[in-house]
Order: sequence, then C-alpha cells, then structure tokens
Amino acid sequence: MSLLRDDALSVAFDHAAARYDLLVAASPGYHGHLRRSARRLGLPYEGRGARVLDLGCGTGASTAALLSAAGRADITGVDASSGMLERAAAKRWPAHVRFVQASADRLGAAGVDGPFDAVFAAYLFRNVPDADHTLAAVRDRMAPGARIAVHEYALSGKPVHRALWTAVCRAVIMPLGRAGGDAGLYEHLWRSVLGFDTAERFAARMRAAGFTDVRVLPLPGWQTGITHTFVARVAS
Ligand SMILES: C[S@@+](CC[C@H](N)C(=O)[O-])C[C@H]1O[C@@H](n2cnc3c(N)ncnc32)[C@H](O)[C@@H]1O
Repeated sequence: MSLLRDDALSVAFDHAAARYDLLVAASPGYHGHLRRSARRLGLPYEGRGARVLDLGCGTGASTAALLSAAGRADITGVDASSGMLERAAAKRWPAHVRFVQASADRLGAAGVDGPFDAVFAAYLFRNVPDADHTLAAVRDRMAPGARIAVHEYALSGKPVHRALWTAVCRAVIMPLGRAGGDAGLYEHLWRSVLGFDTAERFAARMRAAGFTDVRVLPLPGWQTGITHTFVARVAS
C-alpha cells in the first residue's frame, strides 16, 4: 500500500472522524502528551495577546491542549479534512477560538496569513507531501521571535523503537482501525511513521528551514523514542 496524500488522505480522515475521539481516548497518554507539548511552547501570561495557529487541528484535541497551556490566546485551528473540522467546530470553545478549512500548503488562499506568535502542529508533518515546503510556509507566517512546537511520531533511529512501533500497530492500532472501517488510514499511520524522518533528521530539517534554538524533547510512556516534541523559534 502506498501512503495516502492530499485529497485521498482528507477523504480517509473524513471517514474516520466519527470514531477519532474514541480511538485516541483509548491511547494511553494521547491527551496528556499533547498538553505537555503545548506547554513546551512556553507562552507567557496564559498566551494573552498571542495569535496561535493549530495546524492540522483535527477534531480539536490539539486545540484543547493549546487552551490548557495558553487559555487566553487567540487560536486558529486549520485542517484540510471537512469531517475532522466539523467535529472540532461542534465542540464548545471560547469566542477566541476559530476553525478554518485549508491545506497546510495553501494557507494564504484560505486567508490564514498570520503573523502568528506561536504554531502548534500535532501529527501533521508526517502527512504532508513536502515537509520542507510546509515548514517554509509556516515560518513565513510567523512573527519575529515566534515559537513553534511540532508534536510528531518521529522515531529515534534505534531498532528497538522501530520494532515497538510495528508491534503496537499490529497488536492494537491497526485492529482497532479495521474494526471501525478505517483500515487504510491506520495502515497509512503505521507506514508513514516508518517512512518519516528520524527525530534528528526532522530537527535538521527545521534548522534548514530557518528555525533557531531547535530542541528535540522526549515524551514518557511507551511513546518514548517514538513520539517527540520539536520546539524552536523564529529569530527576533
Ligand atoms: C492525526 S490527525 C491529528 C489531529 C490533531 N492535531 C490531534 O492532535 O489530535 C492529523 C490531522 O492533520 C490533517 N492534515 C493532514 N494533512 C494535512 C494538510 N496537508 N493540511 C492540513 N491538514 C492536514 C488531517 O486532516 C488530520 O485531521
């Protein structure tokens, strides 16, 4: 099976949207890890006055994590999948949270221009066709000194973590995905992580895109060595 991209990926997420929240709730640490990565943005004063982009916001799990870390920020959630976005928009949010349907590579066409003081992208970059292009598009919409946190399945490069990822997918994630009628999306999840950058490679990609102070931070639980937070800034 080849990886899902662009419209095919959005259609798969549209289809999976109704069961997405249930599935991630069953994943130990999912919401806690998102909150930890959002806190790692280090936004002061609960984000008061900050314009924050949640790129690939899905059903709003990452948006909720942002709110817990920066409850006063103006948050724009963007996602390419109408099905995922409908689920997000149907939840209760403060007035300073809004949602826009757009591809990460065509933000300007949807009027998502920034400048943003912070960007959060959880489980997005593995899914875009050209991560360098998307990183550049994001950086161009960030204010001087702005912060970014990318939360992503990016393996350590050690065989043990690659093997553990495959074991968890085969034993838990793919059977659950199949049971919900979303076999293709969850096989994509497995394969896209195996084919994606190692954590060090993605950090290098961020540096090459012009981000400074790039740091790779681990997450606890079975995701150690599998999921990382990448934090960085745009030069002031
Ligand atoms: C695994 S979900 C993560 C959702 C949310 N950030 C979370 O943490 O639960 C990935 C999301 O990225 C969106 N996505 C994938 N490729 C995209 C792209 N090129 N532009 C915008 N959104 C995209 C999908 O539609 C999906 O909702």
